[in-house]
Amino acid sequence: MKVAVVGAAGGIGQALALLLKTSLPAGSELSLYDIAPVTPGVAVDLSHIPTDVKIEGFAGTDARPAIEGADVVLISAGVARKPGMDRSDLFNINAGIIANLTKQVAEAAPKALIGIITNPVNTTVPIAKKVLQEAGVYDKNRLFGVTTLDVIRSETFVAEAKGLNVADVNVDVIGGHSGVTILPLLSQIDGVEFSDEEIAALTTRIQNAGTEVVEAKAGGGSATLSMGQAAARFGLSLVAALNGEENVIECTYVEVEEDKFFAQPVRLGKNGVEEILSYGEISAFEQKALDDMADTLSGDIVKGLEFSA
Ligand SMILES: NC(=O)c1ccc[n+]([C@@H]2O[C@H](COP(=O)([O-])OP(=O)(O)OC[C@H]3O[C@@H](n4cnc5c(N)ncnc54)[C@H](O)[C@@H]3O)[C@@H](O)[C@H]2O)c1
Repeated sequence: MKVAVVGAAGGIGQALALLLKTSLPAGSELSLYDIAPVTPGVAVDLSHIPTDVKIEGFAGTDARPAIEGADVVLISAGVARKPGMDRSDLFNINAGIIANLTKQVAEAAPKALIGIITNPVNTTVPIAKKVLQEAGVYDKNRLFGVTTLDVIRSETFVAEAKGLNVADVNVDVIGGHSGVTILPLLSQIDGVEFSDEEIAALTTRIQNAGTEVVEAKAGGGSATLSMGQAAARFGLSLVAALNGEENVIECTYVEVEEDKFFAQPVRLGKNGVEEILSYGEISAFEQKALDDMADTLSGDIVKGLEFSA
């Protein structure tokens, strides 16, 4: 199994690479790529950790040597938010980066499962679709927007609010990955009752949790360590599914209908998406939130589909 991390010298990339070096199955290969010259050094540093995961690092403008033959490619290359910015402010820079890198993935690893972390995810994933399609290698079952951070935040905040063991809390988060498009399905959590006020407050906190980190870091970046953990969870789930493990389910942002992208629970398998699962019954509050996000989400998607590098 070969996993490539693209943007590997960044805050997310380094945390993700560390977690993969210590958690990938024995015998895996981990390949790091970033334009930053430090990247081979990051790989040397990680290579001193005694696990049976071979690691190599590549820098420069050509990503292909790093991506060549990868089974999974996780992309966090780009710029991150500063205070006062929302994820859509990143569009102008990150759109071009994603288009360029996805084109290289199409050439070097056309069958790879691709997880896009770079924001704005609602838009960068449709951009990747277009680029892969133009290269003649698009498969809707192999392209994912990584929304796992919304899931782990929801699980953490719910456990904190209700005094539960977080290991027992599972929360599905549907929609997209910015502001009002993030919809945690709090009504579905087993054995937990919330008041209407609690639901509204928790939902808002989950939707704005990224901003909580951006403001706390005061200009020093956005979520990197929790995102590294979230991306590692998602990447390891892709690897487990590729290795034939059954019933691997994650919420992720995928193409659910032609040109319609949506995050919901997905069963992963050897070819990526095996089955898009129903997100089940939702409350009146959640249905209203779903209706209210529709225009924003479809606007984000169209912006990606219409982008040309
Ligand atoms: N999906 C999510 O939930 C989520 C959460 C947090 C952050 N993010 C996004 O992830 C991205 C990375 O965040 P970060 O905090 O790691 O940023 P960072 O600035 O620390 O790292 C980004 C890295 O990308 C590299 N890079 C830039 N252009 C590149 C290119 N063309 N090819 C290869 N590498 C390139 C940079 O050299 C840098 O090392 C941002 O877009 C951020 O908004 C997503």
